[in-house]
Parts: sequence; structure tokens; C-alpha cells
Amino acid sequence: MARPVVLVTRKLPPAVEARATRDYDARLNPDDRIYTADALLAAAAGADAMLICTSEKITADLVGRLPASIKVISTFSVGYEHIDIAACRARDIVAANTPGAMTEATANIAMLLMLGAARRGYEAQQMVRRGEWKGWTSTMLLGVDFSGKRLGIFGMGRIGQAVAQRARGFGLTIHYHNRRRLPAGEEQGAIFHDNLDSLLAVSDILSINAPSSPETRHILNAAAIARLPDGAIVVNTARGDMVEDAALIAALTCGKLRAAGLDVFAGEPNLDPAYLALPNAYLLPHLGSATIETRDRMGFMALDNIDAVLAGRPAPHPL
Ligand code: 8YV
Repeated sequence: MARPVVLVTRKLPPAVEARATRDYDARLNPDDRIYTADALLAAAAGADAMLICTSEKITADLVGRLPASIKVISTFSVGYEHIDIAACRARDIVAANTPGAMTEATANIAMLLMLGAARRGYEAQQMVRRGEWKGWTSTMLLGVDFSGKRLGIFGMGRIGQAVAQRARGFGLTIHYHNRRRLPAGEEQGAIFHDNLDSLLAVSDILSINAPSSPETRHILNAAAIARLPDGAIVVNTARGDMVEDAALIAALTCGKLRAAGLDVFAGEPNLDPAYLALPNAYLLPHLGSATIETRDRMGFMALDNIDAVLAGRPAPHPL
């Protein structure tokens, strides 16, 4: 009997591709080229499932044109702003993601960004590598301490909570804003704010950990930045479109903000070039989930979703 066909839209870690190939007639993408919508539709012809990444925009229009054979679209990501869930439901296509797979990796990158921003990691790297380090002075590249400062976490889901857990160890006091307040037993001393403005006012460091949605787009705009304490630090491991780049760049330039640590950008990889000139911007190329263990786990979870649906069971991680 013919095996089910799974379209894997991007090149994935070897262990993930090996499992896909073992269990399915897997259509891989060894050159890792990005599919246009038309190429994606052509590649999906006759397929039973699609294992996609955030690079594939699954719009209502595309869903409407997918072959009838597609039963499940499983994304190799926790974020799902690239998938029109309602359109999938309307066509009885199960959409699923990989929640929890990258919690540790992403929270660790948030700490790297916090430290890189607070301790002037980019300027320090530049000084050493350019041969500009002339020896110790008592005032060279001074950053700021964490202890006694307040970390504001916008979005207290799995990753936000993992950031809080780590940040406590650094002596930061945790404040947060979330759609729902955490149950008392899970707050672990974190102070809830029922609105973002209230959180901003106390955030010496602000960490963005909420999902991207029409409601959160540009949530960190000029007005929001103005509410942050002078000299605050902003870190973003979630999605770039939550930040209004021009406003953040202006605040980093004039000194309203001390520094920013950014792993995600609007339009990435084509980030606003003004960031590149800012010594107080500590920039990473979307590395949140980029560990060997995490990327394998993401792939296996994405395949678990496909396995279940193609076997007639509910996906373990449906959207
Ligand atoms: C991925 C991510 O690296 O999971 C997410 O939402 O942003 C990252 O972990 C990437 O988007 C893969 O699709």
C-alpha cells in the first residue's frame, strides 16, 4: 500500500528528516529554498500532510487552493501567526504546532539578550576583536546590575514563566502583564498588572514574550516607550512586529532607553538597518529555539501531530 505523502517545506535537522523518511513518502527540500505560494501548492499536490515553518504563509487564499488530500498542517514552531486557523478549520484541515518544545532555549536567549544589553556585549566584542582594548580602566564599558531592578514580562505563558524563573536567580523582581492572571500558586511572587501601561511604568527591563497578533502589533510604540522608566532596557524574543522599530531606534539613539536586546525583527532577515549603527543594540539572528536538542524536539513534535491525524487520532498539539 502506498505510504502517506508528507511535504516538508524546509530543510530540517537530520534526525527529523530521517524519521519523516522512515515513516512516510516524505517530500524534502534539501536545498532549503523558500517556496512561493504557487510552488508550495504545486509541491503539495497529492500530499496528505504538510510540515511547515514560519517562512510559509498559510493564508486563507492558499488554504482555499490546497489539494483536498491535505489533512493536517503541522508547523515547526510555537508561533502560528503565519497560519489562518479559521480557514484551515473551514476546510477540515487540522493545524498544529510545537508548544513547549523551545521554552528553555528561548528563555535562555532572553537572558543572553538581557545580559548582552545590560553589560554592553556588542561594544565589548567589537573592542576586543578590533584590537581597541588598551587595558583596564575603572570606567571602561560600564553596564548596570540586575539586583534590585524590576523585570516586566509582557506575556506570561510558558516562555514568560521560564524567563521569570531564571531572572529571579539574577535578583530581579518580577512584574507581569498577561491576558489572564496566573493562579496564585504559579505566580511565585511575580506581581500582576492588569494593563500594559501599569507594567511599563515599573519595567527597568521589559521582556516581550507574548504571541504576535493583530492586537499586539506595534504594542511597543512611542507612547509605550515613553512610559518606561528612563534608562530602561527592552528585550524581545517573541516577534518583531510587536515593536515599532522607528520608535525603539529613536529611544535608543536619544538615550531614553539604555539598551535593547533583540532576537526577532519585523521583516526579518531584512531588519531596519538603523539598528546596525546602534552600539547599545545587542542583536541576534532569531536564535531563540536554535539548539540541537530543541530543534530535534520541535521536529519530532511536529511529526507527532502528523502521525496522529493520519492515523485518525486527534493531534496532540492542535491549534
Ligand atoms: C523557529 C519560532 O525557529 O517557534 C517559533 O515560533 O519563532 C522559532 O522557534 C522558527 O520560526 C521556525 O519555524
